[in-house]
Amino acid sequence: MARKISCLGDNIIPPAHVGVIMDGNGRWAKKRGLPRKFGHREGAKNFRSITKHAKAVGIDYITFYAFSTENWKRPKEEVDAIMDLFEKYLDEVEDFIEENIRIRFIGDRSQLKPSLQAKMRHTEETSKDFDAMTLVLAINYGGRDEICHSVKTLAEQVKRGELEPQDITEDMIERNLYTEEIPPLDLVIRPSGEQRLSNFMIWQAAYAEFYYTNILWPDFRVNDFDKAILDFCERNRRFGGI
Ligand code: FPP
Repeated sequence: MARKISCLGDNIIPPAHVGVIMDGNGRWAKKRGLPRKFGHREGAKNFRSITKHAKAVGIDYITFYAFSTENWKRPKEEVDAIMDLFEKYLDEVEDFIEENIRIRFIGDRSQLKPSLQAKMRHTEETSKDFDAMTLVLAINYGGRDEICHSVKTLAEQVKRGELEPQDITEDMIERNLYTEEIPPLDLVIRPSGEQRLSNFMIWQAAYAEFYYTNILWPDFRVNDFDKAILDFCERNRRFGGI
């Protein structure tokens, strides 16, 4: 595939895969005296504009951490509000059809509402041949849960006598993650001042670069995204070499 031209300049080679931890929605709402769900609503709006912009920047894959396996601990009202935002987004499929963006989901879907699961399947099917960019949504996703899921699949193969334990490779574990055929992360962006991974793509982030900013996610604009990309372009990645 020909190299994409980035809106940041001809000489810019953007990261192939960017992960975004959309943090700070609750604090954004609290600062305004609003219920937390209003922060998530603003966060969802922002997710849409950053997704479109990422395509213009020339990103191949962008993954948003939308709901973690630990987020079920939140009050039901907040969980329901986030789930409603997912459904609403998936009801408005025209957006990504126009944008030629393929959508994939990672995470354990079995605990999600059947109507949401059906919309996820429909969205993946509708967009599977789009090739301008791949948008990955991590919903009910946990990095440890994902590795556990992969290991269980391999253990089944061992049990059936199809695989010897000593023949298990990193590549096999990787191929059985939810991110099958999605490349490792190059850059992880986390707004809101927290500097941690929070169980986000712990396998795929093994050699990722990290970019932190104090801006809360609903206030994180396209120029902040550009700053993160340009910062990444200055990094010297060695992947364990010298
Ligand atoms: C973390 O901020 C945010 C979440 C757990 C939810 C993120 C979900 C959305 C932005 C909705 C996404 C919608 C679509 C359509 C993808 P926080 O609530 O932990 O913030 P805080 O640390 O300030 O409390």
